[in-house]
Amino acid sequence: PAGVVRNDDGEVTVHGITASALAAEYGTPLYVVDEDDFRSRAAAFRDAFNAAFADLAGGVDVYYAGKAFLTVDVARWVTEEGLRLDTCSGGELAVARRAGVPAANLSLHGNNKSVAEIGTALTMGLGRIVVDSLDELERVGSVAEDLGVDANVMLRLTPGVHASTHEFIATAHEDQKFGLSMVADGDGASPAERAVAFALGHPRVNLLGVHAHIGSQIFEASGFAVAARKLLAFAAAVEAEHGVAMPEMDLGGGYGIAYTETDTPRPPAELADAMAAVVRETVAELGIACPRISIEPGRAISGPAGFTLYEAGVQKTVAVESGESTLPRRYVSVDGGMSDNARPVLYEADYTAVRANRVTDSDAIISRVVGKHCESGDIVVRDVYLPEDVAAGDLLAVPATGAYCWALSSNYNYLARPAVVAVRGGASRLMVRRETEDDLLARDMGA
Ligand code: LLP
Repeated sequence: PAGVVRNDDGEVTVHGITASALAAEYGTPLYVVDEDDFRSRAAAFRDAFNAAFADLAGGVDVYYAGKAFLTVDVARWVTEEGLRLDTCSGGELAVARRAGVPAANLSLHGNNKSVAEIGTALTMGLGRIVVDSLDELERVGSVAEDLGVDANVMLRLTPGVHASTHEFIATAHEDQKFGLSMVADGDGASPAERAVAFALGHPRVNLLGVHAHIGSQIFEASGFAVAARKLLAFAAAVEAEHGVAMPEMDLGGGYGIAYTETDTPRPPAELADAMAAVVRETVAELGIACPRISIEPGRAISGPAGFTLYEAGVQKTVAVESGESTLPRRYVSVDGGMSDNARPVLYEADYTAVRANRVTDSDAIISRVVGKHCESGDIVVRDVYLPEDVAAGDLLAVPATGAYCWALSSNYNYLARPAVVAVRGGASRLMVRRETEDDLLARDMGA
């Protein structure tokens, strides 16, 4: 698979460090993050979008979506690479703060931010709070009044674009929890329009612009283009009605990555150029100035930069009925599973795996990599060809686990969370230590 590099002995390596050296030093399961790769993906988004929008909006602000994978180091990396940071909870804000990210570079998302989270954001002087509903806008306004500070607000709208993996379906897509509807209701105005009127009329709310996030793991630019057109038309209508040009517009995240060879992501430059072309054409048609654009990629920056190393354990082979005949399927159990990668269970997500510590001339047979949890759905890789001579003690590497794996990890069955290791320029270092038995019992008041 893409990104898997082997040395002359057939061992998987990252910048010259072998998988077996990493496993020996840090143990398994282990999340390995290629810091150079992470940084270059961040830089690629920064450069591609700044180039594509240079003549339009004077460039683009790229916010890394921390929900995909965030530690204090990661917050520093993105800041050093010239990106901003999108957070979605008080906890993520605390990480950003610990990393010393300037408050002006931070945004806060969430459909049900607490008064405390809003208060923290306003006291810090956050660059923007992305407001999800009228209720919340009122809440932000009143907290800002109480604190005697101004709130910089983006309004998250639902432009009626439902994005799926390869296509987008232009449905209303009203029926989900996020965002302000753009559809007029009984009173002839939409919740989005009402929110704009409220924001413009509020002495402590500074309305920066509108935002849309259409989905995740998207390959085509067309869904983003539809959202951009709708948001720009909305901004033009606001300008016509209120005489106010909103200075910013955010097109969200959702850029897809390759988990297996059937996934076909586009390079950031191709997406950026396609999006810039649509924005250029639309602002000309509408006769408005182009707002400053921002985007929020998460998965596309951290996902491909990480992989998980497991140690293989026991195996069994079963006969699977397939039409008239039966076929063997081998199960290979590893020392982690759904607690370190919930995505196969949650989304039926597909991954692949390779044996990382050696190559032999053994035939590849169809195999299912499973975890060690007490659930039959605890699958790491549904179907993958692995060498027939894979044995207990071999290392398996699962690529593209850098996004939404550590972030979604749990202690199910009292498994300790794996360590996270960064590799940069030929050296490895611990980013997050492995949990211990004491960690597992630390909050149990009966212990
Ligand atoms: N901006 C907003 C407002 C979002 O809600 C999200 C993701 C992003 C940006 C970043 O999207 P990305 O570029 O990473 O696709 N746990 C799921 C993904 C949930 C995405 C939630 N929102 C998964 O593992 O596939």
